[in-house]
Amino acid sequence: MSDYARWIADPEGFWAEQAARLAWTRPPTTTLRRADDGSWAWFPDGELNTCDLALDHHVANGRGDQVALIYDSPVTQTQRRWTFAELRDDVARLAGALRGLGVGKGDRVIIYMPMIPEAAMAMLACARLGAIHSVVFGGFAPPELATRIDDAAPRVLLTATCGIEGSRVIPYMPLVRDALALASHAPEHVVVLERPEAPVTLAAVELEWRTLVDRAPLVDPVPVAGSDPLYILYTSGTTGRPKGVVRDHGGHATALRYSMEAIYGVRPGEVFWAASDVGWVVGHSYIVYGPLIAGCTTVLYEGKPVRTPDAGAFWRVIEEHQVAVFFTAPTAFRAIRKEDAEGEGLRGRDLSKLRAIFVAGERLDPPTLAWLSERTGKPALDHWWQTETGWPMVAYGQGLEAGEVRAGSAGRPVPGYDVVILHEDGTPCPAGETGDIAVRLPLAPGAFTTLWNDHPRFLESYLARYPGYYLTSDGGYIDEDGYVYILGRIDDVINVAGHRLSTGEMEAVVAKHPAVAECAVVGIDDPLRGQVPIGFVVLADGVRIDPAELERALVAAIREQIGAIAVFKQAVVVGRLPKTRSGKILRRTLRRLAVEAEVPVPATIDDPVILVEISAALRARGVGRFGAA
Ligand code: COA
Ligand code: AMP
Repeated sequence: MSDYARWIADPEGFWAEQAARLAWTRPPTTTLRRADDGSWAWFPDGELNTCDLALDHHVANGRGDQVALIYDSPVTQTQRRWTFAELRDDVARLAGALRGLGVGKGDRVIIYMPMIPEAAMAMLACARLGAIHSVVFGGFAPPELATRIDDAAPRVLLTATCGIEGSRVIPYMPLVRDALALASHAPEHVVVLERPEAPVTLAAVELEWRTLVDRAPLVDPVPVAGSDPLYILYTSGTTGRPKGVVRDHGGHATALRYSMEAIYGVRPGEVFWAASDVGWVVGHSYIVYGPLIAGCTTVLYEGKPVRTPDAGAFWRVIEEHQVAVFFTAPTAFRAIRKEDAEGEGLRGRDLSKLRAIFVAGERLDPPTLAWLSERTGKPALDHWWQTETGWPMVAYGQGLEAGEVRAGSAGRPVPGYDVVILHEDGTPCPAGETGDIAVRLPLAPGAFTTLWNDHPRFLESYLARYPGYYLTSDGGYIDEDGYVYILGRIDDVINVAGHRLSTGEMEAVVAKHPAVAECAVVGIDDPLRGQVPIGFVVLADGVRIDPAELERALVAAIREQIGAIAVFKQAVVVGRLPKTRSGKILRRTLRRLAVEAEVPVPATIDDPVILVEISAALRARGVGRFGAA
């Protein structure tokens, strides 16, 4: 019987069996506890510690001398390795330093750091203490960091003096200090790791990382309940306020361990590399926790797929560290292909240890899939998941009965996820028909269980639309053989280079400009980044402003308030926005105008002429289908 069939036959029994493979300090007697409001908790009465599972457990079981972490940083020309024993000691000492600052079970710690080993150690050190970490991606601007500081109310903020983007050093201290000035909540301590690329004079309230850690004692893992929170990871929703996705210890460890085997097909001792960032869910699950819990060696890579130093950078890492399974976002391969369509960077590389390449985070376009499979000769496997779920819902499982790869499909549902396609009235769509993608409750272990500080929003945004189901906010269909096809978001979230961003949040920034009466930001197709945002702006009455000047101001505002990662580069001034007769902006129509030759006129539109005007404006600028965006 397949794992999926076994799970369908006895969901709780299946997960109880998987959980029993972990080293609990007190094994759970309850597998699943459901609440009256539709939410749930996995393994609530068990006790364990995720850092213990990721490090101490392996040291105790003969893996102490195996390499746990490889730091490969072409941007600093550095490579370093930690064995499980060394990593355990460094993490235990950092945990000791945090405890010395008063951090204990349930306290929050914000980690705003670049892709350096200390970022992973910081996560593990928090886990060791039962403290809740919240990693904020280093590309976010101060107001974004401030919002997260206020929501998480951390006792301590951990940072470093800079990130390195290609050949550019990005100083972090001005960003952190600005964020702290904007935030209402003040962490008790700010701990700063000085990097040689950005020496800094610390302010009185800022503590030097190494001094603090050098004199700290090593501390043991603190057992926590299976359902206690391990971390909060903020992700974009439709409004300006990010959602604090809460992940537990027990379900998370159970699911990640299972996924390493069943989905990625890696064995303990092998090397797993996810080229992402610890600021995203992929980094949490598959740079830090998944590989370590599974006893694999993980690679933490600080650099881009191209430019550092060349288009063959990824292939070099795979060869040099003997990577068995590799995971990144399709954008990375589009970037490599753009620079090196012939695959010169692969020439002479020994990729014999590499068994499969996994991609997720955004749509895998068939040309990139074909290029990747042809050039590497390896299976290139799409899979679909979200920050909320923490691990894949749909995949071509290596350890499952994989089946053939179908272009355009992310695979079939994995155990834990009963994926369905629903009509707007909640009835199921037949095979092949497109609808809203939903998942029957409860979600699998490892998926989020609430939103930080906002359980009502969790219920309202995800569980209320279709009672008994989780609304994924993606649209798609399932074919007759059960393969799932993801067609994209049904809300105002977009994916720019695999980075999840809210157009609603960008609209809020654009709308603040005094010359703007109203605006809409939509995502349009982009050959490199998959999607990029574009703004449509209506000027306030009587305002006279050079459209180019306004565009520059809006582009700068988004960079300063959200971050360069939004890649907001275009704002088009239009006479009016297309709206329904009841005044709702037709954002979908705007998006389609930019990317499709034939756009049907919505029946509800109040004035169809505006569509012609907007098309002309897009053509004049060479946007989307009218030229290179
Ligand atoms: N800190 C500060 N700035 C950052 C940053 C970070 N961590 N990450 C990105 N930025 C900046 C970039 O420097 C760039 O700034 P610029 O406008 O001044 O040039 C801007 O944000 C846009 O970033 P990006 O879209 O990443 O563009 P890029 O040209 O730097 O790189 C790719 C393009 C395709 C190579 C890169 O996006 C990539 O490797 N993507 C892979 C996808 C991925 O890892 N996704 C994570 C989820 S799995
Ligand atoms: P994130 O929470 O940042 O991981 O983004 C999740 C969103 O990315 C999903 O809701 C999808 O819209 C998109 N996504 C993730 N994986 C895929 C995939 N394999 N194919 C298409 N879209 C994907």
